[in-house]
Amino acid sequence: MTQQPPPAPRGDPAATSPPTVEQRLDVLLDSVLNSVRSPDPRINSLITSLVRHLHAFVRETRPSDAEWLTGIDFLKRVGQTCSDQRNEVILLSDMLGLTSAVDEVNHDGPVGATPSSVEGPFHSPAPARANGDWISSGPERHRGQVMVARGRVTDTDGAAIPEATVDVWQADDAGHYDSQDPLQQLGNLRGVFTTGENGDYWFRSVVPSSYPVPTDGPVGELLRALGRHPMRPAHIHYRVEAEGHGPVTTHLFVAGDEHLDSDAAFAVKPGLVVQPRYDEDPSHAAAFGVDAPFIEFVFDVRLIRRESIH
Ligand code: BEZ
Ligand code: FE
Repeated sequence: MTQQPPPAPRGDPAATSPPTVEQRLDVLLDSVLNSVRSPDPRINSLITSLVRHLHAFVRETRPSDAEWLTGIDFLKRVGQTCSDQRNEVILLSDMLGLTSAVDEVNHDGPVGATPSSVEGPFHSPAPARANGDWISSGPERHRGQVMVARGRVTDTDGAAIPEATVDVWQADDAGHYDSQDPLQQLGNLRGVFTTGENGDYWFRSVVPSSYPVPTDGPVGELLRALGRHPMRPAHIHYRVEAEGHGPVTTHLFVAGDEHLDSDAAFAVKPGLVVQPRYDEDPSHAAAFGVDAPFIEFVFDVRLIRRESIH
């Protein structure tokens, strides 16, 4: 006698069909989230959110195995490109606008305070200088357009802040920082100034040019793959600190630069764009100890009093 097949299961056929990919993804996500058990609640909150967003990315984009491995290899090479002199991970964060996003959420200061902006990778300890000093002593001094940068450091009510430190660093007229250019001494185009009685600072230099971020690593590959240019608009970096006030790290951006609307680091904010004043008057030039014509930038920095920071 031939054997009969077992009777077909009764009831809801959906209850016995294999789970869908979506259901399996739900179960997987739940088990990963259940494994997040740090004694530190902040770590739990950060990792839980990160895992949720990463899993949502996979659900939405359905990367192939090959795409996934390409991404893993890219991140591996980003890490391998880092050295004591170079941080490709921060560059990646800058180029994806993440550094500026973190800046936005952390520096939502009161109206009137100078907006902050990304620090970038080129800050280094600078020589202390007296107001009026030149920060330019390399070959750019004879090549570039002479400029005077000056301004006042005040609080958000306009009260002068004496003894504030104004740490500035910039690229030269060819777009190179000292650390990128064998013809410049380390410390060139940098200086730490201290404001006077009225909160004033000033220095002499040459007008910086726009420049490309480093593109010889994996982040450069990414920019090319996205059809993006690597340029940052001409700028001078500032970090201003004063007793009793919150510090600010920011930029002075040169008005008129062609890359202001497409900064590769997404760091331009309207309050930071300063009009260069072209001055041909020899008596004005003499007052600053430069030859006419020269360019003047006036950049005031308004800090937040500590008691107003929550
Ligand atoms: C910079 O301005 O120095 C900079 C900022 C972000 C990425 C690369 C360079
Ligand atoms: Fe820069």
